[in-house]
Amino acid sequence: MKIIRAENYNDMSRKAANIIAAQVILKPDSVLGLATGGTPLGIYKQLVEWYKKGDVDFSEVTTVNLDEYRGLPKEHNQSYWHFMQVNLFNHINIKANHVYIPNGSDMNIERVCKEYDDIIQSVGGIDLQLLGIGNDGHIGFNEPSTVFETGTHCVNLTESTIEANKRFFQSREEVPKQAYTMGIKAIMQAEKVLMVANGESKADIIKKALFGPVTPEIPASILQIHHDFVLVADKAALSEIDVAI
Ligand code: PGA
Repeated sequence: MKIIRAENYNDMSRKAANIIAAQVILKPDSVLGLATGGTPLGIYKQLVEWYKKGDVDFSEVTTVNLDEYRGLPKEHNQSYWHFMQVNLFNHINIKANHVYIPNGSDMNIERVCKEYDDIIQSVGGIDLQLLGIGNDGHIGFNEPSTVFETGTHCVNLTESTIEANKRFFQSREEVPKQAYTMGIKAIMQAEKVLMVANGESKADIIKKALFGPVTPEIPASILQIHHDFVLVADKAALSEIDVAI
């Protein structure tokens, strides 16, 4: 595990974007596992800027996103499909048929999950997986559980996740209660895992996940045993573990 300390959110975003850009430069046909949420926004902004300057080329890149709300059509302005178009894909030269996100509008759980696992396999697995971390320790939408769910599956979102995500909806009631998420297996099989975290609100869970016991009750804790795991976090998110690094 490697921990890279950033001064603040902008610094975290630039450092993480540098790691992703380096990955794409070194291997132009990389498979990137991408994440949504507030934390990666600055990374995507930076990558778009570098693309516009001609510094990074996404023409051969493939992406597989971590998750999608179940029951939300992709056109909905809070779908993760929409998020990715608006914040990244519309602004770079990635091919539309190289972009994969679980199909949230298909309510057939078995079909969606099988299709997505087949896709991850058919693209040859993930070279670099970008992750945020939920306040409850979730990665993707792998919520606290009694087991590490391996394949793509449908989850009931925890109260803590619904509470955290309500800021994006008109009301709490509108937040979908279920999501499709990539499982722990695909994440752990990624060649490299890059987690980003910022702000004091993440300090406690970062400490628990990365320095506590490995347990499905804190899904991110499994990353302690990944062979190439990098955390880029700002000072505030690292404030609980400063003594340890
Ligand atoms: P955030 O979400 O980036 O909006 O904090 C992280 C997550 O839920 O994975």
